[in-house]
Amino acid sequence: MPATALHPSFASKISHAPKAELHIHIEGSLEPELIFQLAQRNGVKLAYDSVEALRAAYAFTDLQSFLDIYYAGASVLLTEQDFYDMTRAYTERALADCVAHAEIFFDPQTHTERGVPIATVVAGIERALAEAQTRGLSSKLILCFLRHLPEEDALATFEAARPLFAQYPHRLIGVGLDSSEAGHPPAKFERVFAQARAAGLKLVAHAGEEGPPAYIYEALDLLHVDRIDHGVRSLEDPALVARLAQERIALTVCPLSNLKLRVFDDMTQHTLKALLDEGVAVTVNSDDPAYFGGYVNANYLATIEALELDDAAAYTLLRNSFEASFITPAERAALLARLEQHWLAALPGEH
Ligand code: ADE
Ligand code: ZN
Repeated sequence: MPATALHPSFASKISHAPKAELHIHIEGSLEPELIFQLAQRNGVKLAYDSVEALRAAYAFTDLQSFLDIYYAGASVLLTEQDFYDMTRAYTERALADCVAHAEIFFDPQTHTERGVPIATVVAGIERALAEAQTRGLSSKLILCFLRHLPEEDALATFEAARPLFAQYPHRLIGVGLDSSEAGHPPAKFERVFAQARAAGLKLVAHAGEEGPPAYIYEALDLLHVDRIDHGVRSLEDPALVARLAQERIALTVCPLSNLKLRVFDDMTQHTLKALLDEGVAVTVNSDDPAYFGGYVNANYLATIEALELDDAAAYTLLRNSFEASFITPAERAALLARLEQHWLAALPGEH
């Protein structure tokens, strides 16, 4: 345990700071209460009798043990209204945490395999995001391919989604790669990422969450990603760390997720501070907040407390969130200025 708790004024300064969230799976924002509500509305049978029983099952041992429950939870999503309700709930939580900009993942294959068209998924999410935009939360959407499925499925999904990239160019700006990492290296998805790249889309991939540094190299050299999701195992390879820092390749780190999925035994063991000290552009994010016990501010506070990060390090993390985002230079400059104003106006951080 850290020697000192965060000073309340420092915690408040972080919580109230404008920030970007760059790694949030919208299906991972489904709270148990909403899962039960949607199951009832849609007549979907769940393997759990109550909200409490479902929540009690959130005792994960690794990534796969989480994914099994995450996909079961997503099975209640059927209609455009369901996707709207889920996204609306997330945007409320994000606004409460002073998120000014969010780049949100969704997993279309989880829904299309149950007969839900991609257009329905995106229409519901988009309606909630457009509303949130009027309340000060800008956002982008990133379509993720499920890596435990064959690349042919990803290629078919990309083809099916092409009209949506054309219909929502302001929102749907990239593709990503998620789900079970071990045994499913980025190399498996070289062709579909080449197609997305040719279409001018932004590219990201989960790599180095449970998988080895070799997967991070593959994501960079074969998929040509703009950012790495997680990447916490990069610390095992000093040459890789130097490259990430040198090329300013951002990592979207999710500390509470790493703790819940046993990537680290304790938050004090997390590699975030070491990566930050090496000059890597680390950001803090929530991943699947309904499952991992906290939204983005909870992730900042847990990390900053456990790793005893100071005022300057906290500011760097917040700045990195805007630096690494896929917004325009003018939007970035405006958000960085807002952050600077907030940081200078607040009391100096103590911990
Ligand atoms: N899908 C949702 N959350 C994920 C995670 N942390 N890693 C891989 N796939 C995911
Ligand atoms: Zn993730």
